[in-house]
Amino acid sequence: MITIRQTGPDDVWPIRSVMTAALASVPMGDFVADDPDFIARHIGGGEGTGLVALSKQTVIAYVLVRFPGRAADNLGLDLGLPADELGSVAHMESVAVDPEWQGHGLQIRLVTAAEELVRTFGMVWSLCTVSPTNTYSLANFIRLGYERKINVVKYGGFERVVLAKRLRS
Ligand SMILES: CC(C)(COP(=O)(O)OP(=O)(O)OC[C@H]1O[C@@H](n2cnc3c(N)ncnc32)[C@H](O)[C@@H]1OP(=O)(O)O)[C@@H](O)C(=O)NCCC(=O)NCCS
Repeated sequence: MITIRQTGPDDVWPIRSVMTAALASVPMGDFVADDPDFIARHIGGGEGTGLVALSKQTVIAYVLVRFPGRAADNLGLDLGLPADELGSVAHMESVAVDPEWQGHGLQIRLVTAAEELVRTFGMVWSLCTVSPTNTYSLANFIRLGYERKINVVKYGGFERVVLAKRLRS
């Protein structure tokens, strides 16, 4: 049975391990891994939150959520959102599934659960970036109701589609 729970401080290295394994499962440039410090800041350091999927107590997939607030990387700025809406933006910052567990719909399960969580924090916008060649991730976000907005170059030279979903009217 696969269970999902919110992240805690001990999840940094299990998440990092899934991240590096998943990185090897997609063509170079389709996914960018984050360093452990970035993960720690988002799962307990106040900049975001996260969810992990577990099989027999082992982390097999995760989603990291970032609350960018007034930071320069707020994707709301790329979309031209009004300044008073930037504080209600959540980024689906990173999501990955251990290659041995891909194909079980875990990205959709995790992002759906993350959306429910950030709604309880009052967030209005769920935004993310996906490589235009990352067909699995793009298809999943479209299925979840995200709209393709613009193409940008980010993360040191990688093309990305910015997608957006309004979580409440
Ligand atoms: C994108 C990702 C999270 C999707 O994982 P998932 O939730 O397990 O994918 P799904 O269950 O929706 O899989 C749908 C289909 O795509 C296939 N698939 C998913 N990811 C795949 C991959 N990396 N390589 C080959 N096939 C893959 C599945 O096997 C499944 O095929 P099927 O329908 O024939 O059974 C996963 O591919 C991954 O971790 N990729 C690396 C990290 C990444 O790109 N993250 C997203 C950044 S925006």
